Amino acid sequence: MKPSKMHSFLRHATVCAALSSIGFAAQAADLAAGKAKAETVCAACHGKDGNTPIDPSYPKLAGQYRDFLERALLDYKSGARKNAIMAGQVQPLSRADIENLAAYYASLPGSLRVKR
Ligand code: HEC
Repeated sequence: MKPSKMHSFLRHATVCAALSSIGFAAQAADLAAGKAKAETVCAACHGKDGNTPIDPSYPKLAGQYRDFLERALLDYKSGARKNAIMAGQVQPLSRADIENLAAYYASLPGSLRVKR
């Protein structure tokens, strides 16, 4: 291989490796970290199992779609979704906290059912 070709091959390989590690990071939520935060912060209102909120007007989170949960938390944080209680809850959360919490609640068995 000519040196110039070798160089472009290496550059391509590096870009591919970088892209695939970004893709991997997006997938790898830390369920244990999500569980720890959920139990110390969120359980007070949404219930320890995510299925038993302290008030019927408080939503169940267990088994909800991960991307729905993530979207809701990001929207509370940006102000796109307005709720005085949740705005205060998400304020200290990082993007990684949000991903971990969403993945954790999505992984729990939900009691949500489609009513007929
Ligand atoms: C002080 C009580 C309280 C705490 C603590 C709390 N929440 Fe909430 N949460 C609520 C209420 C009330 C709503 C409904 C708000 C609304 O109508 O938008 C809600 C809504 C949500 C929603 C939207 C669900 C849906 O179906 O639309 C998500 C997701 C959520 N909370 C996640 C969390 C997470 C994660 C934590 C912990 C970091 C947390 N909440 C802590 C009271 C609380």
